[in-house]
Amino acid sequence: MTISYFRTAETLVTGSGSISKIGEEAKKLNAKKVIIITDKVIRQTGLLSKVINPLEEAGLATDIIDDVVPEPPFENLEQMITQIEGKGYDLLVGVGGGSALDIAKVLSIMLTNNEDVRDLVGIEKVKNPGVPTILVPTTSGTGSEVTYNAIFTDIRDKVKKGIVSPYLLPKVAIVDPELTLTVPPAVTAATGMDALVHAVESYTAIRADELTDGIALQAIKLISRSLRKAVYNGKDLKAREDMAMGSLLAGISLGNAGVGAVHALAYPLGGKFKVPHGVANSLLLPFVMKYNAVADLEKFAEVAKAMGENVDGLSLREAADRAVQALAQLSKDVGIPSSLKEVGVTASDISDLAEEASKIDRLLNNNPRWLTVKEIKKIYEEAYGSVEVPALATT
Ligand SMILES: [Fe+2]
Repeated sequence: MTISYFRTAETLVTGSGSISKIGEEAKKLNAKKVIIITDKVIRQTGLLSKVINPLEEAGLATDIIDDVVPEPPFENLEQMITQIEGKGYDLLVGVGGGSALDIAKVLSIMLTNNEDVRDLVGIEKVKNPGVPTILVPTTSGTGSEVTYNAIFTDIRDKVKKGIVSPYLLPKVAIVDPELTLTVPPAVTAATGMDALVHAVESYTAIRADELTDGIALQAIKLISRSLRKAVYNGKDLKAREDMAMGSLLAGISLGNAGVGAVHALAYPLGGKFKVPHGVANSLLLPFVMKYNAVADLEKFAEVAKAMGENVDGLSLREAADRAVQALAQLSKDVGIPSSLKEVGVTASDISDLAEEASKIDRLLNNNPRWLTVKEIKKIYEEAYGSVEVPALATT
């Protein structure tokens, strides 16, 4: 058995209504002056009162900064740090989707590391722990509340770049499904499929181990049984609870086992074509999994079972193929585009996309089956719709 580390948020608070505990948790951290990091859409929903009231009841002073933008560039961080440094904030509370949480995580370390944020890009470049954070997701998808990376767009070369450091983990993550009840169907679908990709990719990743396997399979089960319900009846609290827990579990598994080629091939679509992260992942998932499945038929058969597919009497290969089909069907059922054409990519873009994806070694090295630029190009071509896709790809 190889040596591995398992890291997550110091404390997880989960369940419907759990946001009411934020004041108590902030007091345990000896916080006195809190800055809430969020975006304007969240602020307009009125959801923030559920965060602010318990903090104020606990006697804490709270300010809000709502300048987070989707798929944030580094400039977004630089603009926000000038507004919060030197003001004596001793707790940062991130409220929102992955962008708001990633921004809160990185602002926390920017306050204690006197460096240009671009110099923190890469693995474990952060020297000092940050100001304590509490992270409150309002979508079920990114798992950002339990991962120790944060992704930003470099607008100079239109490439997504990641800061990876254990210091990005929060002191507390509060995952309250009630906060997700008003998320619109398209966002529920894209973020939910992103969570499913986290679970499937981390379960089949090279770095997966016994600890992450059980967590990932439970995430696959919860998300598969409830994503359609959450998309088509957003007020279904039971479905939202499954999605919130599924997303959290998928995030814990992703945070420790990592993800692979789906994310590697999705990133260039976000940078160049502004395809939302969850949509890009969901669109590519069946094509990459069709390629990957032959590398680990047993695990893909387990994915099919966790998704509720009946695999009785099927060969291992047929059961693995059933997983790929079920993932494609779920993505289609929740309204995600099923070809690159539909998201604005043209055939002439594919070579550049493949070149770019092939450079993301951090993810490709964790994929269960090796890929070179040639294989990546073929997967993009299949996803574009120009090549017929075989049942399970062996070439
Ligand atoms: Fe993701």
